[in-house]
Amino acid sequence: MSIKIGIIGAGGMIDFHAPGFQAAHAEITALADPNRAAAERVAARYGIPAVYNSLEEMLAGSPEIEAVSIITPNKFHKPLAVQALEADKHVFCEKPPALDAAEVQAMKTAAEKAGKRLMFNFNNRARPESFAMMDYLRDGTVGRINSAQAKWIRRTGIPGVGGWFTQKALSGGGALIDLLHMLDLALYFMGYPEPEYVLAQSFNDFIHDTSFKGPWGIPDVANGVTDVENAVHGFVKFKSGQVLSLQVSWAEMVKREEVSVVFQGQKAGGMVRRLFGRDGLDETAVDTGELYVQEHGRSVNRELIVEADPAMGRKRSAMNFIRALEGAEAPLNTVDQALSLMKIIDATYESSRTGKPVTVVDLTS
Ligand SMILES: NC(=O)c1ccc[n+]([C@@H]2O[C@H](COP(=O)([O-])OP(=O)(O)OC[C@H]3O[C@@H](n4cnc5c(N)ncnc54)[C@H](O)[C@@H]3O)[C@@H](O)[C@H]2O)c1
Repeated sequence: MSIKIGIIGAGGMIDFHAPGFQAAHAEITALADPNRAAAERVAARYGIPAVYNSLEEMLAGSPEIEAVSIITPNKFHKPLAVQALEADKHVFCEKPPALDAAEVQAMKTAAEKAGKRLMFNFNNRARPESFAMMDYLRDGTVGRINSAQAKWIRRTGIPGVGGWFTQKALSGGGALIDLLHMLDLALYFMGYPEPEYVLAQSFNDFIHDTSFKGPWGIPDVANGVTDVENAVHGFVKFKSGQVLSLQVSWAEMVKREEVSVVFQGQKAGGMVRRLFGRDGLDETAVDTGELYVQEHGRSVNRELIVEADPAMGRKRSAMNFIRALEGAEAPLNTVDQALSLMKIIDATYESSRTGKPVTVVDLTS
């Protein structure tokens, strides 16, 4: 029996979730979006039989669904996830997990109470380069990662000015919370160590300059609020002694877009990277996975040869959710990892606001 799933939100990302679920042989039986025209269009594209205006309507009209996929602006992640979990549905939620760690804690509590699975779309873990790199992390080739550098930097990549992405109340923040993927991937490679301190600074010099907009994204909103950062630089120290530096930007004076995790292990170093020819255009991107070792007294670079995935694991990640529900694959992420990630993000914003290093545990005690 295939898993029956309902999707909430008919925006851009559904074109990865829907094919991913269907490739894993799940049945998408319902779609909800207050934008009825968008929902009807997308439902026709993927053969989804039932369309609703809200999750509430969907839960009442399509009781057969066992799982819900949330693809809405960030502000709605927590309330929709909690509502779905309380209705005994498993949940796959887009990134960021929520607006802050307190919201993720509420989602975790709801998942535990319902005994249902809650997973997030950290799709960069589902890239072929990341699957390959994990083999070398698990088999001991790399050893403990002492230090890592996580980067998602864009020269001109603000996703629409005045829309939901650039309003803190709707998004939770700017480039840092939106492009959290490499921070998550570095933490995943490092074994999600317990964070201790964060020291960081955000910048908003270019956030109102429309010449820094990306070649995609949602339309600008005239007179919309724009109150988030365009770049963040930070440093995280973990209780284990491991360290991580972070650079994230939608707009910054860099040569071109780069998405990368570089790490230095006790036995080997490595890198997973996407370099863009033109900011934000996936078809111009080149993906690389490399290991750096010392063999027979000399330095050796090993290149990981994997199949190309222009979608950066976005479809594969949705497949993993279905397979995890079926017990056919280990889940690629856990709620505790999402909580730890959001604590680091909260501390990064707090350090930036106060100009001081922030003890991560302080935020939750
Ligand atoms: N993993 C990735 O690579 C990636 C890429 C882009 C966006 N995202 C994430 O996906 C989410 C959605 O982004 P998008 O680009 O699809 O946005 P979008 O603005 O294109 O679409 C959002 C849709 O949600 C609908 N919506 C809003 N409130 C709703 C509600 N309460 N119930 C049901 N539907 C509602 C809107 O009408 C809209 O159709 C965001 O959280 C974003 O961070 C992830």
